[in-house]
Amino acid sequence: MKNIRNFCIIAHIDHGKSTLADRLLDVTNTITDREKQAQILDSMDLERERGITIKSHAIQMDYEQDGEKYVLNLIDTPGHVDFSYEVSRSIAACEGALLIVDATQGIQAQTISNLYLAIENDLEIIPILNKIDLPNANPEDVKDQIVDLIGCDIDDILSASGKTGEGVPEILEAIVARVPAPTGDPKAPLQALIFDSEFNSFRGIVAYIRVMNGEIKKGDAVKFVNTGKEYQADEIGVLRLTQEPRKSLSTGDVGYIISGIKTSTEVKVGDTVTHRDNPCAKGIVGFAEVKPMVFAGVYPIESEDFEDLRASMEKLKLNDASLTFEPESSMALGFGFRCGFLGLLHMEIIQERLDREFDMNVITTVPNVSYIAHTKKGDKFEMHNPSEMPDPNSLDFIEEPFIRAQIITKSEYTGSIMNLCMSKRGMMTNQQYLTSDRVELTYEMPLGEIVFDFYDKLKSISKGYASFDYFLIDVRPANLVKLDILLNGDGVDALSTLIHADNAQTFGRRMCEKLKELIPRQQFDIAIQGAIGAKIISRETVKAVRKDVTAKCYGGDISRKRKLLEKQKKGKKKMKQIGNVEVPQKAFLAVLKLD
Ligand code: GTP
Repeated sequence: MKNIRNFCIIAHIDHGKSTLADRLLDVTNTITDREKQAQILDSMDLERERGITIKSHAIQMDYEQDGEKYVLNLIDTPGHVDFSYEVSRSIAACEGALLIVDATQGIQAQTISNLYLAIENDLEIIPILNKIDLPNANPEDVKDQIVDLIGCDIDDILSASGKTGEGVPEILEAIVARVPAPTGDPKAPLQALIFDSEFNSFRGIVAYIRVMNGEIKKGDAVKFVNTGKEYQADEIGVLRLTQEPRKSLSTGDVGYIISGIKTSTEVKVGDTVTHRDNPCAKGIVGFAEVKPMVFAGVYPIESEDFEDLRASMEKLKLNDASLTFEPESSMALGFGFRCGFLGLLHMEIIQERLDREFDMNVITTVPNVSYIAHTKKGDKFEMHNPSEMPDPNSLDFIEEPFIRAQIITKSEYTGSIMNLCMSKRGMMTNQQYLTSDRVELTYEMPLGEIVFDFYDKLKSISKGYASFDYFLIDVRPANLVKLDILLNGDGVDALSTLIHADNAQTFGRRMCEKLKELIPRQQFDIAIQGAIGAKIISRETVKAVRKDVTAKCYGGDISRKRKLLEKQKKGKKKMKQIGNVEVPQKAFLAVLKLD
């Protein structure tokens, strides 16, 4: 136990986490040349393309120093706010963290939010200035920022380049010297933390564990404390480049357990594995059920694909327990599912996986967050869809989730960023200069406002020089109304949104204008109206056009005429028929792109 070191790497996106991890594996000869490939830890295609480590894994390295042999377990952490609970559990499995800061970029929003998680878990922090090979590196300034942030000594900061390998041996030395060995009692009842899990189509669920106390042996009867379920440890082992079975894992070890579990929902990240017959007194603290916060309807473009879509969603759910879905129907879009996601990135990932892995073409409706409705009778329930909004006579009030947002930017952009945040109902709680030209702004604002185009706008007004991170803090009462869109008098349920009453008027007007741009002219006038209850608040009209595609044929060539009609029919397939109006797919996401 005294020669084990468990650590993770925390960094802002693109500061070089994966590259540095590769170097550590290189220097410790954990990967042979044949196995070497760029960013070995990112195994999903999608991740590699996006350059985002979506799913955390762990890997064990052997390391020798002064004749002493050490086992180093690197636990990878996902790099996006949607997955912050998983990050917190990976961090809980470690005693130390490498805090990587890009020497050209300095401290960014995610550096800080991840650092807070590490500090909360009492990890030993090793600050590393990375990418020092770059000519525009600014080591002195960035070192000052790090000292200010974590209050360390300037000499505690290591300098490295994941690209050239400079400084990497010193990082390994520091891990051994500074990260504490695991503590815990090998003789105590078993207590192992599940910090991640993965679905394998042959073997079922593989749970990644860190043994906090006691010992687990192959074949042991085990119990998961929070789900209460019992299994047999069919296989346990450690994580090298592949899974290597072992007979036992002891206090301080990081490894995996396979126990015949077939679905991801049974294995909850943060749960505790213990022995059935000699259980630990209680589970490891910090367990929480992850709850989806963003909901959207997902509909097949061809209605006959509904069952295929269901099968695909079920498969996705096998390896992604945080995805939820239940059937719903929309008058406009037919049968589909209301899906719950951890956040917007998670939603995008699922959409992309449906397309790539399952070849499913879907329409996703405007996302909304999870609201809590309180009725006058004193009931309360979560609303995942604007259609669930109780009528005004029975509704008492609504609560909406609030976040604390951290934005770090160059000082020249603060003015426009403050305007943006204000327009999103944000309240500034702190403003702090990190250096003379870099500012950290802290805001409290409704999550529902971030779901619309906040991030894109932030990027464009700051010319990319703003980093942003957030976490949920609480729910607060909100004055929300349901805005409906009517096309020629028919309500289009898939276009309804819940919106703050103060913004409803402007929002309704912009929605109508945008839809006017997107809905092609048809053979009759189309009235587009925004309505709150029975009250119409905005209106636009798409003027009729008589588009006689066969007019040019002089009634002569019949086969030519038929061809043209066929062509027109095909064009229609990309449209959804709503009442007598044809609506293009992109109109359903129009709300996300209002100027
Ligand atoms: P995420 O997984 O997306 O959070 O990114 P990451 O932090 O793992 O960053 P990654 O290792 O993918 O590196 C981001 C980019 O920086 C890549 O293009 C790397 O090639 C480059 N890079 C990483 N480390 C260095 C370095 O030390 N020097 C230079 N010049 N480039 C580096």
